This record gives sequence, structure tokens and C-alpha cells, in this order.
Amino acid sequence: MRIFREGDVGPLRDKRVAVIGYGNVGRSLALNLRDSGVSTIVGNMTGDEYHRRARSDGLDVRSIPEAAELGDVVVAALPDDVMPEVYKSEILPGLHSGKALALTSGYPVAFGLIPLPDDVDVILFAPKMVGAAIRDRYKGDRGYAAVLGVVADATGEALKTALALAAAAGVFKQGGFAVEATAEQEALADLLGEHLLKAPLLALLEAAATVMRRRGVPPELAALELYASGEFGELLSLVASAGIAEVLRLQSPVSAYGQLTRWRRYLKPLLEAGEEAAERVASGEFAREVVLERLAGYPALNAEWRRLRAGEAEAAFAALRRLRQGP
Ligand code: NAI
Repeated sequence: MRIFREGDVGPLRDKRVAVIGYGNVGRSLALNLRDSGVSTIVGNMTGDEYHRRARSDGLDVRSIPEAAELGDVVVAALPDDVMPEVYKSEILPGLHSGKALALTSGYPVAFGLIPLPDDVDVILFAPKMVGAAIRDRYKGDRGYAAVLGVVADATGEALKTALALAAAAGVFKQGGFAVEATAEQEALADLLGEHLLKAPLLALLEAAATVMRRRGVPPELAALELYASGEFGELLSLVASAGIAEVLRLQSPVSAYGQLTRWRRYLKPLLEAGEEAAERVASGEFAREVVLERLAGYPALNAEWRRLRAGEAEAAFAALRRLRQGP
């Protein structure tokens, strides 16, 4: 796996970049590219809040088909579920020979959701950073991590364009770098992170709060202990900079003993559930499930949102928020 630590913005100097979508990622990328001196336009559907925001940020905003037509490099920064239909009807017609298409996620390619033209470079440029932080870091001269890849190299220049895009978007500023991966690897890593880490984390928080409640711990104290004090968040960000062992070392012997002598008992069921989830992702079954869920208007997702908002954890958090804000 190659790791890139620098890139030359040069190949973008005489080109126009069209960023399609002005959400979490699209906004930060467009502003960073513009501030790096790259001729940048935005493509967004008319009338929504994102369109208004792009205008008020002073960008040249066009319809999606117009931007795709005008851009030499077309950066598609749309949600994965929306991308296939918008791509086919509004982006693909503008992708003429010799242009480059950059995708902010491997998902649509990995699961065969978008047809790719033969004569166009296709680049994967997936920032591994929260959308808004991509902009904050750029302004603070700090870089961030990203995944870069060449999906199709029609011109022979795809890697240069990918590196130029990453450089102009601020990846290679202080401390930043990009790792090379295929769209399939990026999509798999991204989804497995969600299904095998973030989903079980929700279950862990629920199970821990339930057991604490049964043992007489008030819900507010449980929320504080589990996440609301910010201690858990601090530990995770320390793990990112110092590693798991160092963070365990910083905790008391009772804490480290409790963690290190207990964690293995959860491993077997997690591995079993993880393998099952991974199979559904790798086979494309999950992506097909999402297509059907979206077509039906997201009934399962909406039901889960309602359940979460009505749950005890949210109520406990609201009580804590009141506590923080005072009377
Ligand atoms: P988002 O939800 O913020 O995107 C909103 C944008 O999508 C707006 O411009 C909106 O007009 C447009 N949009 C929504 N529905 C549309 C439709 N039916 N037709 C046309 N346009 C429509 O998306 P976000 O979070 O910026 O994600 C974009 C891509 O970046 C995804 O591939 C995601 O995986 C990737 N990504 C996201 C990160 C994040 O922090 N959110 C981090 C790294 C990558």
C-alpha cells in the first residue's frame, strides 16, 4: 500500500473543477480548492439550503448538469444513496472524453451502482475526516488523512490529478497523508467500520445503561459515565494519537485491570456477528438492501430514529444538558 505525503497542485492550474454537492464534504472541498487558487464551481440542485449556502459563500453555483458539463474535473460529493440516480441522469452526460471524475466514496463503484465511461479518468478521493473539519483544518494549516486511488486511467494522468486534488483540498498540510486503496477496499473498510464498530457501540451503550439502571444507577449518572462527560471522547481521541496501549497505561491499575481481564469474553459473539455482517456487505446484499429501503421511503430507518429519540438515553442526555446550562 503506497502512502502519499505530498502532491503538486500544478495539474489543476489550467483546469476547472466542478464540485457536485455542497453538503458536509462538498462545501469544505469547494472552499479549500478555491482558496488553493483552483478555478472552482459548484453544482447543486436549485432551491435547497445547500444551494443558498454556496451562493452566500460567494461561489459560482450552477445546476448539476451544467457544472458536470463545465468541469474538467468533476468531484461527486453526494450521499451514497442519492449518487446513482443523480449520476446517471445529471452527471454522466457531461463526462466527455479526457475528463476526470473524482468520487468521495468507493461505495457506488464497489457495488456496481454507477456506469463508468471508458474514456474518462476515475479517481477515488475519500477524505477520512468529518466534513466540517476538512475546512477547519485547512484554515488552521493542518492536514488530514484521505484514501486515494485510481479506478480508471484513461489519460495516463489520473494519479497526478488525484494527488493535485488532494493537495488543493488540504490533505498534505501539516501532519496529513493519503493511503492508496481500491474503491472496493475503501467501501469495505468504511462499511465494516460502521457495522462492526459503530453499530456494536450503540448496543454497548444501551446494554451498559440498562444494566446500570437495573443496579440502581440513575440514568443521568449512567449517561455521564458512559459518554456525556466527554471523557470517553477524550480517550478515543487519545487512542488516535497515542495508541491503545498508551491510553490504557494512563488509566489507573484498577481500571486497566478491569478492562484487560474482561474484554476477551465479548470477542467470540462479536466475531461471529462481525463475520455475518461482513458477508452481507462484501456480497453486495447490504447495498441492495439500501436501494430498496430508499425506494420505500426509508421506513426502517425512520422507525429507528423515532425509537432512539423516544428512548431513555436521549431523555437522560436532555436532563444533563439542562444541568450544564443551569436554571
Ligand atoms: P450530505 O448529505 O451533506 O450532502 C448534501 C448534498 O447532497 C447537498 O448538496 C444536497 O443538495 C445534495 N443532495 C441530496 N439529495 C439530493 C438529490 N436527490 N439530488 C441532488 N442532490 C442532492 O453528504 P456528505 O455527508 O457531504 O457526503 C458526501 C460524500 O462524502 C459521501 O460519499 C460520503 O460517504 C463522503 N464522506 C462524508 C463524510 C462526512 O463527514 N459526512 C466524510 C468523508 C466522506
